[in-house]
Amino acid sequence: MQDHDRFSQADLQTLQQETFLRGLKYFEETDSTNTRALELLVSNPDIATPHLIVADTQLSGRGRGSNQWWSASGSLTFSVIINFSKIGWSTEQKPLLPLLTGLAILRTGQFVLPQEDFSVKWPNDVYLAGRKLAGILIEVSATSPNHAVVGIGLNVNNQFENAPEELRESGISLAERSEKSHSRVEILRTVLHQLENLSQSFANGGQPLQAWPEFCLLTSKQVTLQTGAKEVNGICHGIDDTGALLLETNQGQQRFLGGIVKSWD
Ligand code: BTN
Repeated sequence: MQDHDRFSQADLQTLQQETFLRGLKYFEETDSTNTRALELLVSNPDIATPHLIVADTQLSGRGRGSNQWWSASGSLTFSVIINFSKIGWSTEQKPLLPLLTGLAILRTGQFVLPQEDFSVKWPNDVYLAGRKLAGILIEVSATSPNHAVVGIGLNVNNQFENAPEELRESGISLAERSEKSHSRVEILRTVLHQLENLSQSFANGGQPLQAWPEFCLLTSKQVTLQTGAKEVNGICHGIDDTGALLLETNQGQQRFLGGIVKSWD
């Protein structure tokens, strides 16, 4: 990574002063920002939130299920610790955090590249021009159930020609699409603003998920969903108010609260 692209002290100060963050921790290099965040919660359950953990270089990013996250030079990798009570969310609202985070990234993309085609893939992947732009891993610590760690990997300036072969055709970065590089700190600041706006609106009784159908990648497509050891096939009818995925299967319409969408066409 080139030196000018590292987070400077001034960048970190800007993030702390101009966003809803109450604290942050920066690593030049770490294995996984989610792992660091979960550790922080164990050592300091009263940590000031929202709390950002950001790494210039992440060495073994974790993805959903058994996946790894390719955290190449130029990508943006960070985690935000939130406290549901502090942001005013009820227990029923908690399961919608992945979907709302996906929308926050989608809006960030639209802000940076307004002419481009962004979509959300249930529950929380963000796509640009049909390729994966960002992944989200939300984890809850058994010792602090009122907190969540929102881990985000966003392809900003990394180049997929350098990615492992199996990712080369399926991923994309903002820089690849726009053919210019972007400031990671500016993108991070925008994500934090979008997260703040959406979570506040939700706490105040707003319905930010009403935007989902317009950007849903899967609606009307034939989808294969992996749920536990089972695979289910069906036509996607979007999501319901609880954030569940709706599939028209050969046993009628079914709703799914979790799982990984393996394929769609
Ligand atoms: C996925 O698409 O499977 C989710 C990927 C999430 C990756 C991010 S990068 C920052 C944070 N730290 C991790 O170890 N994982 C998440």
